[in-house]
Amino acid sequence: MASESPTVYIETYGCQMNVSDSELMLGRLAEYGYREVDAPDGADVILVNTCAIRDHAEQRVLGRIGELKRHMKSTTVLGVTGCMAQRLGPRLLERAKHVALVIGPDGYRALPSLIESARHGERVAKVDFDLEEHYEDFRARRVDGVSAWIPVQRGCDYRCTYCIVPTTRGPERSRALADVIRETHEIVAQGITEITLLGQTVNSYYDGTHDFADLLRAVGAVPGVRRLRFTSPHPNDFSDAVIEAMATTGAVCEHVHLPMQSGSTTTLKRMLRRYTREEYAECARRLRAAIPGLALTTDIIVGFPGETEEEFAETLTAVREIGFDDAYTFKFSAREGTPATRLPEAWTVSDEVASDRLERLIDTVREGTRAINMSMLGTRHEVLVEKLARRGTLLQTRTRHHRTVLIPGDDSMIGRYLMTELTGTTGSTFTGAVVPTRAALPLAG
Ligand code: 5AD
Ligand code: SF4
Repeated sequence: MASESPTVYIETYGCQMNVSDSELMLGRLAEYGYREVDAPDGADVILVNTCAIRDHAEQRVLGRIGELKRHMKSTTVLGVTGCMAQRLGPRLLERAKHVALVIGPDGYRALPSLIESARHGERVAKVDFDLEEHYEDFRARRVDGVSAWIPVQRGCDYRCTYCIVPTTRGPERSRALADVIRETHEIVAQGITEITLLGQTVNSYYDGTHDFADLLRAVGAVPGVRRLRFTSPHPNDFSDAVIEAMATTGAVCEHVHLPMQSGSTTTLKRMLRRYTREEYAECARRLRAAIPGLALTTDIIVGFPGETEEEFAETLTAVREIGFDDAYTFKFSAREGTPATRLPEAWTVSDEVASDRLERLIDTVREGTRAINMSMLGTRHEVLVEKLARRGTLLQTRTRHHRTVLIPGDDSMIGRYLMTELTGTTGSTFTGAVVPTRAALPLAG
């Protein structure tokens, strides 16, 4: 009897870097004969690719790991990978006896052999950093046929005092530009036209010869790359050369996600963000001056230790003054071992106060987003059709500015570019109508 190929089920939490790492792991395992399945029940290998950014993210994963036990066969190997695996290491093995493997972000090359060992009853935590590791020879298994992530940098050399990432992903290192270009060609050959370059502070990319400006130009010049995005940049790494490359590379989309974290210079100082409120605003101004119509989104943390009501109020005014198109907002979460945990105990912002600030911040962000979005009604935008929308018979599409537009249509349209007119908005997303372009119009009699 021919032996069936072993199956693997993977669940991904956290950021796009993790989504990209999951694609790499699946690609690697496929080379070793594994077949991906979309449910945990009875899978030979179950992987949970985790995030450690906030305590909430970790608690969710711990709950899920407990739950997964029910779906395991006696021979199933359960592995925990990613940032939480790196952070907790062997502690995770002690905590959950049904977990066989704990592998940090630099250890995925060993995945097939570690799974083999686990089959023979070994339990392993592999959490060393490998500064040479870019998984260059892995063929990412991309499930999305429209848009692709390309990791161009791993790790982080900033030391923002709230952040666990330098601990979980190690020092910053960039891939060679030639390798990124090779991967871009492969992706385009699969019919994918939108690319997002990934890195913790992606615009500090430097491969020893080329900087981020060179990278944008080179990727943007690959025939078939129609939309080029990147996430997440740091304000201090937007050199004039990078902004110039963005403005002059046609494929680079008119959207930047630029984490601000706080609008108060004193809070920013305690966060060790290395810029003031004014410097952040100046960076936004330079970007907007160079790229007309640029959409700007951000990340903001409330309740950082020592944040006073006055400092928080400065965040609200910064949100209004800068006029973000949207923002992700978070309550500060103390992460074990980060410098913020060594700030005076008395500086702790109570959960009650932090929740209240979060609510007020969300209201302020929404107000701004809604006003901008209302003013866009009736305008026309080229959209890329991404997938069927969750509800009904609509398609989810996206503008170059990264706005979601729902349009009528069917799945044969996925991957196409269409011109749409924005007809309605919920305040955050849009509905749109397809506008016939000249090429699609019947020829005049
Ligand atoms: N607590 C709350 N939010 C955090 N972030 C990073 N670390 C923390 C933390 N300890 C937020 C930042 C970052 C986003 C990815 O998550 O805003 O930009
Ligand atoms: Fe991504 Fe940071 Fe979460 Fe790691 S800790 S998965 S790098 S968001």
